[in-house]
Amino acid sequence: MSKTGTTEFEYQNGVRILADQSSHEEPEANEKLESIIKDAKAIGCVAALEKHNHHLTYLTDAKRMSYLDAVGIRDTDDVLEIGSSLGQHIRIIAQRSKSVSAIEVVPLQAAFSRIWCDEEGLENVDISTGGASGQLPYDDESFDVVFCNYVLEWCAGRTEMDPADFHRKYIGEIYRVLKPGGRLYLSTKNRLSLKYILGSRDEHLGVRFGSLLPRGYQKRIRHKARLGRTTGYLHSWNGLEAILKDAGFDDNQRILAFPDARFPEYLGDFAGFSANNLPQGVTESLARKDRLSLRLPARAFDLTTNSLVSRSKKAKKYAEAC
Ligand SMILES: C[S@@+](CC[C@H](N)C(=O)[O-])C[C@H]1O[C@@H](n2cnc3c(N)ncnc32)[C@H](O)[C@@H]1O
Repeated sequence: MSKTGTTEFEYQNGVRILADQSSHEEPEANEKLESIIKDAKAIGCVAALEKHNHHLTYLTDAKRMSYLDAVGIRDTDDVLEIGSSLGQHIRIIAQRSKSVSAIEVVPLQAAFSRIWCDEEGLENVDISTGGASGQLPYDDESFDVVFCNYVLEWCAGRTEMDPADFHRKYIGEIYRVLKPGGRLYLSTKNRLSLKYILGSRDEHLGVRFGSLLPRGYQKRIRHKARLGRTTGYLHSWNGLEAILKDAGFDDNQRILAFPDARFPEYLGDFAGFSANNLPQGVTESLARKDRLSLRLPARAFDLTTNSLVSRSKKAKKYAEAC
């Protein structure tokens, strides 16, 4: 399986090492991951995550994986997962597809993924660590499917590049590596989310209303509060679709993830959603702002979702399409 033409890359413990891997992690975070990796080799990955109380539920929750069904993975598909974290979803994709390539910017997370995939005997997985520059280390038209689940909002944070320019480059790269007819599942957070409208603090900017504010004003507030340059960057539906279109994606379908794309109780077409059809007990367990969102007129509800999810398609080449 070659996704990289003639370029030669260095591998360490089965992970391809790229020049733009991250070196920004806190020493304590690295020490913890090193310790988890050591235990994973001795007692297995799940047991090691459990022992260190390291997000096991978050990593293995079935609701979090439901996005994998949104584009329909086939056993003939070559799949790319961007921002694959500890490999929690690489494993599932590998079982359903022909091959998976995964790119994760944090080297120790990529190293853990490799161990997890090896432990499960998965031989169709290629893992790289890097991506901080927004360059994808794959040949043009390599993949049938690309997943980029909750990565975009943070992914520009390890360069000096303007986040909007970074996102344009990144989505352009995704378009480049998709085969004609290839599918993209992209999810990120909504700049116009109801929670920011109601004045919640935005974790990306560190200020109330955060990403909702005009961009120039955001910069001024952060400058005044000595918060430095922002690393997180959110879009509205229209903003995200403009970038997708610029990159070449003409076919972009909005998907509703309710209450959000991290733990969706519903993931599907907007038209098919009804609060009455949510599983029993869900409405009562929602955060107050999410419950409130259910009472908005449809148009306002649609624009102020917590997450933006796009199912996009790269057009087939003209000759193939005919
Ligand atoms: C919120 S996690 C989402 C993980 C996974 N996609 C999921 O759905 O569970 C975002 C991941 O993207 C990684 N990441 C951030 N910027 C990246 C970049 N430029 N290239 C590759 N990975 C990146 C982070 O290190 C982190 O592991």
